[in-house]
Amino acid sequence: MSPQPQAAVGAPLSRVDGRLKVTGKALYAAEHDVDGAVHAVIVDAGIGRGRITSIDARAALAHPGVLRVIHNGNAPKLPYRDNSGSNNPPEGRRLRVFQDDRVRFHGQPVAVVVATTLEAAQHGASLVEVSYDAERPSTDLHEAEPDEPTRYARGDADAGLRSAAVRLDLTYRMARNHHNPMEPHATIARWDGDRLTVWDKTQWVVGTQTELSTVFDLPLESVRVISPFVGGGFGSGLRCWPHVVVAALAARETKRPVKLVLSRKQMYLGTGFRPSYEYRLRLGSDRRGRLSAAVHEMDGETSSYEKFTEGIMAAGQMFYSMPHVRQAYRLVPLDVNTPLWMRGPGFATASFVIESAMDELAHRIGIDPIELRRRNEPNEDESNGLPWSTRRLRECYTVGAREFGWHRRSPKPRSTRDGDWLTGLGMAAGVYDPGRFPAQARVRLDADGTAVAEAAASDMGPGTYTAQAQVAADALGLTMRTVTFRLGDSLYPPTPPHGGSMTMTCVGSAVLDACNKVRRQAIELAVEDEDSPLHGVPADDIVVRSGRLHVQGNPARGETYQRLLARNNRTHLEADGSYAGAPEPARHSYYAYNATFAEVAVDATLGLVRVRRMLGVYDAGRIISPKLADSQALGGMVGGIGQALLEHTVTDHRDGRIVNANLADYLVPVNADIPDLKAIYLEGEDMDADPLGVKGIGEIVQVGVAAAIANAVFNATGRRIRELPITAEALL
Ligand code: MOS
Repeated sequence: MSPQPQAAVGAPLSRVDGRLKVTGKALYAAEHDVDGAVHAVIVDAGIGRGRITSIDARAALAHPGVLRVIHNGNAPKLPYRDNSGSNNPPEGRRLRVFQDDRVRFHGQPVAVVVATTLEAAQHGASLVEVSYDAERPSTDLHEAEPDEPTRYARGDADAGLRSAAVRLDLTYRMARNHHNPMEPHATIARWDGDRLTVWDKTQWVVGTQTELSTVFDLPLESVRVISPFVGGGFGSGLRCWPHVVVAALAARETKRPVKLVLSRKQMYLGTGFRPSYEYRLRLGSDRRGRLSAAVHEMDGETSSYEKFTEGIMAAGQMFYSMPHVRQAYRLVPLDVNTPLWMRGPGFATASFVIESAMDELAHRIGIDPIELRRRNEPNEDESNGLPWSTRRLRECYTVGAREFGWHRRSPKPRSTRDGDWLTGLGMAAGVYDPGRFPAQARVRLDADGTAVAEAAASDMGPGTYTAQAQVAADALGLTMRTVTFRLGDSLYPPTPPHGGSMTMTCVGSAVLDACNKVRRQAIELAVEDEDSPLHGVPADDIVVRSGRLHVQGNPARGETYQRLLARNNRTHLEADGSYAGAPEPARHSYYAYNATFAEVAVDATLGLVRVRRMLGVYDAGRIISPKLADSQALGGMVGGIGQALLEHTVTDHRDGRIVNANLADYLVPVNADIPDLKAIYLEGEDMDADPLGVKGIGEIVQVGVAAAIANAVFNATGRRIRELPITAEALL
């Protein structure tokens, strides 16, 4: 078959929805104009653990405009049917809003006030008197009792360590982080009889639809979720949180559409977080740095009612070659909200530890950190014996070292100064396991030569509208201007979560499939049509370019979609497309990789760390949309700078209260913290990965960044900081 010309894919296009966004015409969840909507404000628990003994709503109800106060004393019992399987909550029993008197974490929703105005609802919420029987909560990862571990082992790690010439025994601690997207989570809920419509901030339209159908015991088709724009997510929208249920419940009880927007403070209480960890890593190697054994022991927090796990074990099993590995991953149940995946989930945590430790090992035995990594590069995935699909880390190192000027790094720590500043270079490698799950899409080519593709995907910022349209345009042989991609509605064909680096792979492959089918329908129509200039031409010899079908190599012989459809009295052609997910059984071990380089300056007196420049080199398969990929890569580096130097959710263990639940005290990088950032993508596609040859870029871009910075801080100062974030205090 003649390959379709690729004009849109690979072109550095700007976002097709950019103008809508910068002119305020892109509507985010809370901005939809739903007739007659009233406002709801959640009352948060003021204790960290215990029971509600009474709720006095009289003052709130007396406030003008307040319509209703709903709490465990008056809320109807909600079905919370068993999971249907497609909303994938963690093991456990999810938080059921207003269904009992238990307080499981500080800030849990204990009541909701519904009022005709936002101000009345807010004031009403402040008037609700909640009395408690308080107990002391357990919120300290380092003092609570862990569950039984999940284990992995190959070889004999203890014997391997004992016989190793070089041994390291290192313990690292990573702070809890919150996602903090710019747009707060928000929901508008409306009932029309037994049908529920929600306008919601979500990274998973189908997951939210499924969860609401489960909670209210409705057929899936009776719940519609609309989410055309998402103002950042980083993972916080990968689950339907209790506030969405609260909005739907409040709307049902008041028989009015209800709008509920979380405050910035409530974004720390009700939408998950990257869990804190304590991670002990023991490494054994020979004197040349060839690894023989590793023992990984990680403790990560979860809630008392759900067991949240993430991919923190995989990197330790497959990243470096060694015969002996033992791992134990323990969950520590605490009186906190349930954590959730946050950018680079699991891998961004594990990589900080493994890549810091590799830097420590390189220093101990006196070899270059890149050379150490090369010496331990595995030829296959040693956890399962599978060949790599593509693994081009060596090339990442070569390109990165050259482009970053790695040869200028002094191997001796604390030996390079720039006035009062100690400067240093560091690097780290990264790996991420992109998900591959079934997805569907639909495309319709109209007689006017324009096409619309649809899938129930999200776009939290990476540019799904644009990148999917690029795939569709090339597969249909149309220009970008004549193709529209629609997303964010559960009426469209279902897709997996918009997260885990899955959207380009899974949705893109389904869009490609649907568009290929429509193109083939058009070609077959032309070939069989005696009045077509393409009549009788072998179908495989025909391509479509700019809406015109023609013989490959002979552009003069052909006709447009419009002429073809008009002559055949066809209003449109359409097709459903699908992507089946990862092949079973797996034939390849499939990961995205990077090498990240950082230069830092540390004030010799004050301990202030400033990142001066960074470079990320990515083995992420084919890049559909280079300009949007850059936006991902730079954003991932910014996220990594936050993880390395600033972000830290602080809990007061006396009562379980988060003390910095605001953007003044929870520090994130601002423009002044962001230096010269650059991204390079290794060219080429991974055709073992999926029909598009992409591996996804959204998650891998944050993996390894914190370690690269920590390693640069060591190179600059000679101080090894094993706790994130790296603060000035730690460096004094
Ligand atoms: Mo990403 S943590 O899956 O939004």
